[in-house]
Amino acid sequence: DKQSLGSTIGTTLDRFINDKQGEFPFATGELSQLLRDIALAGKIINREVNKSGLLDIAGAYGATNVQGEEQQKLDVIADIRFTRALKNGGEVCAIISEEEDDLIRLNNNSRYVVAMDPLDGSSNIDVNVSIGTIFSIYRRVTPIGTPVQMEDVLQKGDNQVAAGYILYGSSTMLVYTTGHGVNGFTFEPTLGEFLLSHQNMKCPKDGSIYSINEGSYQSFEPSVKDYLQYCKSENYSARYIGSLVADFHRNLLKGGIYIYPSTEKAPNGKLRLMYECNCLAFIIEQAGGMATDGQRRVMEIEPTELHQRVPLFIGSPDMVNKAHAFRGEEA
Ligand code: AHG
Ligand code: MN
Ligand code: MN
Ligand code: MN
Repeated sequence: DKQSLGSTIGTTLDRFINDKQGEFPFATGELSQLLRDIALAGKIINREVNKSGLLDIAGAYGATNVQGEEQQKLDVIADIRFTRALKNGGEVCAIISEEEDDLIRLNNNSRYVVAMDPLDGSSNIDVNVSIGTIFSIYRRVTPIGTPVQMEDVLQKGDNQVAAGYILYGSSTMLVYTTGHGVNGFTFEPTLGEFLLSHQNMKCPKDGSIYSINEGSYQSFEPSVKDYLQYCKSENYSARYIGSLVADFHRNLLKGGIYIYPSTEKAPNGKLRLMYECNCLAFIIEQAGGMATDGQRRVMEIEPTELHQRVPLFIGSPDMVNKAHAFRGEEA
């Protein structure tokens, strides 16, 4: 009928953000503006990612970051683009970035701190496989107008006011939460807009997908090995893209568990608390799932360093609880 004709184009992200502004007590519009700034940065990075095979921006940049990882050109480009967008936007007093050793100090008169992984899934850039951007937003605790302190920046995940990711996949999506559920927007390139496509996303309570780099199996702790044996005995599907955002997004939609456990090479796992784990933990909990380091809720962990790593068990609650149960059996 006439009603349903052309009804595929829904709410734009901008409109959605405006409509939801009333959900924040004492809303001043600054957080809404910040979310729009992040979406703009996402569009810019999306443009670079889409063209990367055509430009000379594939491959290694020739430097290593503070984690000792070889930076790819797009890691650096995404870091610069994102930082610039947040600086110009003016709503941010400091940024923690995977690609920067220290805090980036911006506008002391601003209220928000952003932690970001500008480009997640570095190893997939040059092979045209899905990659992403991850961000968390905190409210500073020291007074506006004063220099940012470490306590503004090293807050636990429970203090996040918003978190999200952009997935540069077969389509580009922005998914975010402000603590009132999770919503997903798909980028419409001809309009240049993110449009609401996944309203009130919920993670299935149980699932049958497990995602882990099993190449490191030999060095997993016994409880993780036992859980993996269980997954096989149940004929679960193994799915591992190697881009956290993409693996997470699939498991959020379909139900599943993603594990990056401690290994011999990486005793605290590989993933970073401040700009990978907390953000996805906030989203998965808002969607009805769970995120732990194998024992504790991720968002309760008190951070001590900008680039701190923690093991991550994240996804459907029944699966995360099951993985925990194997640890219990050893005790
Ligand atoms: P980044 O590209 O931001 O450094 O993150 C890499 C992470 C994450 O995206 C992915 O899930 C994980 O590294 C893969 O690590 P392994 O290659 O050790 O499985
Ligand atoms: Mn990296
Ligand atoms: Mn990452
Ligand atoms: Mn990264």
